[in-house]
Amino acid sequence: MRPWTLLGLVVFLLVEDGFAFKDHDFKNCSQSGFCRRGRALAARAKEAKDAWKSPYSLVADSVTVNPADATFTARVKSSLYPGIKFGLELRVHHDGVVRVRMDEIDGLRKRYDQAASWALIAEPKISETIRWTAGKKDIRAVYGAKKEIEVVVSYEPLRVALIRNGKEQVVLNGQGLLHMEHFRNKDGQEGGDGAAQEVLKAENPPPREWFEGDKEDDYWEEKWISWTDTKPKGPESLSLDITYPNHGTVYGIPQHATRLALPTTTGENSFFSDPYRFYNADVFEYLASSPVSIYGSIPVMHAHSADSTVGIFNAVASETWIDVSHASEKSTETHWISESGIMDLFLLPGPTPEDIFKQYATLTGSPVLPAQWALGYHQCRWNYMTSDDIRSVQKRFDEDDIPFDVLWLDIEYSEDHKYFIWNKKNFPDPVDMVNDVAALGRKMVVIIDPHLKRTEEYPVYQQASERGLLVKPSNGEGEYEGLCWSGKSSWMDFFNPNAWDWWKSLFKTQSLPGGAWSWTESTEDVHIWNDMNEPSVFNGPEITMPKDSIHYDGWEHRDVHNLNGMLFSNHTWQAVYERSDPPKRPFVLTRSYYAGSQRFGALWTGDNLGTWEHMAVGIKMTLSNSIAGMGFVGSDVGGFFGNPEPEMLVRWYQVGAFAPFFRAHAHIDAKRREPYLLEEPYKSYVRDILRLRYSLLPVWYTQFRETTVTGMPIMRPHYVVFPKDKNGFDLDDQYFIGSSGILVRPVTEKGATEASVYLPAENQPYYDYFNLNIFRSTTKGKTITVPAALDQIPVFIRGGSIIPTRERPRRASTAMKLDPFTLRIGLSKDGLARGELYLDDGESYDHQKGQLIWREFNADKTSGKKVKKPLLRISSRDMASHEPEAAVDGVSLKTYTPENSFAQSISDVRVERIVVAGLNKKPKSVKVDGDDGELIWEWIDGVSAGDKKEGESSVLIVRDPKVLIVKDWSIVIE
Ligand code: GLC
Repeated sequence: MRPWTLLGLVVFLLVEDGFAFKDHDFKNCSQSGFCRRGRALAARAKEAKDAWKSPYSLVADSVTVNPADATFTARVKSSLYPGIKFGLELRVHHDGVVRVRMDEIDGLRKRYDQAASWALIAEPKISETIRWTAGKKDIRAVYGAKKEIEVVVSYEPLRVALIRNGKEQVVLNGQGLLHMEHFRNKDGQEGGDGAAQEVLKAENPPPREWFEGDKEDDYWEEKWISWTDTKPKGPESLSLDITYPNHGTVYGIPQHATRLALPTTTGENSFFSDPYRFYNADVFEYLASSPVSIYGSIPVMHAHSADSTVGIFNAVASETWIDVSHASEKSTETHWISESGIMDLFLLPGPTPEDIFKQYATLTGSPVLPAQWALGYHQCRWNYMTSDDIRSVQKRFDEDDIPFDVLWLDIEYSEDHKYFIWNKKNFPDPVDMVNDVAALGRKMVVIIDPHLKRTEEYPVYQQASERGLLVKPSNGEGEYEGLCWSGKSSWMDFFNPNAWDWWKSLFKTQSLPGGAWSWTESTEDVHIWNDMNEPSVFNGPEITMPKDSIHYDGWEHRDVHNLNGMLFSNHTWQAVYERSDPPKRPFVLTRSYYAGSQRFGALWTGDNLGTWEHMAVGIKMTLSNSIAGMGFVGSDVGGFFGNPEPEMLVRWYQVGAFAPFFRAHAHIDAKRREPYLLEEPYKSYVRDILRLRYSLLPVWYTQFRETTVTGMPIMRPHYVVFPKDKNGFDLDDQYFIGSSGILVRPVTEKGATEASVYLPAENQPYYDYFNLNIFRSTTKGKTITVPAALDQIPVFIRGGSIIPTRERPRRASTAMKLDPFTLRIGLSKDGLARGELYLDDGESYDHQKGQLIWREFNADKTSGKKVKKPLLRISSRDMASHEPEAAVDGVSLKTYTPENSFAQSISDVRVERIVVAGLNKKPKSVKVDGDDGELIWEWIDGVSAGDKKEGESSVLIVRDPKVLIVKDWSIVIE
């Protein structure tokens, strides 16, 4: 018998029936008033063709250029509503990013304008050197090292264009779909400045119908199944076209279950019939190919061509729909329709993907450096039912020598789904249980959801209620009540600043003065999973909170919906950060998120199905999240729903092992499927995959350091690494692991025995990671077919890379701290290679004080002490002290010294093996530079990197060269 409340059971049965949550529970565009209005506007524009003209224009004599920086403001008017005033502001930031803001001035009400302030790390620095020049027809700013960028704001109609080298990169209102619905009164009065209206009426404005349509479509109330959205503020939607006249491919706007290169939603032969939607939602059994909204929203889009990449970040938090179409192969039109909020748009000029990542990270922050254990394997299911169940799972893993780092507890640990409160019948000894897991160097993650059971016996609810920290219903009185796992519940309102310190105090593991409640039945080895934070409300419209519910400061839920999930997990992250002194790196997994969530934690792609389609689309979704900044991402291994057969499970582990976040999870009704339960040979296959993941942890961790500094994603799609290689623009079933040189093409096809892999357009060898067979790309790129039986994963080392690994099987990452390294070197066609290794204690913040090592490995032909022209010289040098700009986790390494105590703690750790693939001839001797003693080495004859042939590469294996990981050294091969 499951420990369910009656309500839980009913909900569960409905879910199981597939009756409660289905497609028809979610709106399509034609069922959403403002989306319908936005699309109708676009349809009228299309029909009118050249006769269509935007009614919005900039009032020339209102232009005010700030003499001190790159800002100007101006008034905008609409010929449809002469009495309504709009304000426009453009700023060019010091890095060339352009911010475009528009709002209604002196309106009847105020539009929500704080989405950006939640997403940005700080107020961006405005350029003090760039200047706007106002002319009669437009105002422009010209900048860039060669004055190659020009931003032109045309007055009539209002149009904003960012131009590079004479080519338009991104254009706003080029199609005339800009429409900011002004606030008005229900009785038909328009609002705005009456006097101005009278004057301008004389100008004989055009009839509104041609632009807005002839009826007030769902302006003041909207019905949906049994719900009524009262819409007290009336219509306030914002429609805007964003066009990329010279870019044929667009990426981003996660999260949607679709390809990385976004398929079209309008126009001839469009792939989807509905626009992409942003309205964070708990969609039961989401489809594996669909533009519907799921759990998170990052309104970031990249437009790409072989010439350049340009990006936008549209800081809007309300429900938003986005149409994508291509008028030609070389251009992309997008149309954004948001329910409320100001226009607050950032144009990221690029011109390379790398620049875009930097520009975006400068705005919203780069991903945080996680604890190293969080990169290990996470074992979860809904649910491990008792503390002895947890102990036995740990034991079974260890008996079978299968590594893992983290055991998870889903909602059934709690008494009646009152989070924090243990169900003592099943978990009588929670602290002992956690300590038993931690004793073997492991952690636990426990779920905390944002819905609080409405009962006086729940101190967390009670205190939140007393403090007035819960979301209010539409009349603004009392507490909003809805149903979730815990039955009748209310929701924390994290927009209320008073909630923050109190929420943090709950996570303290010590008792608090004054008897305030804190989680004393927890330890610092417990980290947190935040789920259902869209928020999910089982009996709410579209399984979420009614839009007219009221948050802090009187904002409606509609204004802030897409920010809601991020605020919850961000504050949980801060709570875990502050619970210990000195702080340890928190791990918080979230299901819902927004731009900026990357500063706090990890995300997973929610309740996927155990199908091959879901396995495949999971990779595309993780890529799309990665390029939008959310790099610590993965999908439920095994599929949440269903019982995967062993073949599928093995493939799913292969997918998971190459995702930044690697967790297996299963629905409560799914059969147990921990790897130790598998029959042979599947069990050994999964053990090998897990060991492979652990051996590559140094690579993952090193790439995480890099992303904390550059914002470059860890999972890198082809267009990011080879922006000019057109063959790679649509590729989303293979990708690179950061800058490591590892290329992976996970197999997601049932019954596969081989896989085709695209080698990018560069004249380089690629080596099979496992057997070091050599494949050659050409300057045009090449598709190869490689064996991919169930125990094989197509993984390659790009010629020119050095991969540091730790290959001793261990039970958890924490047991690997003193393990020696192997260096796998795949030489480039010129016989060179390079790689990096970053390490620190993996858990504290001492890395921000320089307690770390950051090494660079090189393979080249520079002369050694005695040998002038070696066949190859392999060396290690200290990057941290050679790179003046070196940084990690947002902090510069100025305090670093090579003798720091972390480096000393691993001073004996050595390189135990060096494997070099692709040398062009058998060496005569291999020595540590300057030493006379010959090292132990082995040579396998084969194809060299510089040859034209493919096949088994030549391999040199140097055994135990006795060089230390923390020291500079070089090995000379003659
Ligand atoms: C949601 C989560 C899922 C979790 C379940 C119970 O469906 O997405 O991962 O197991 O809730 O907490």
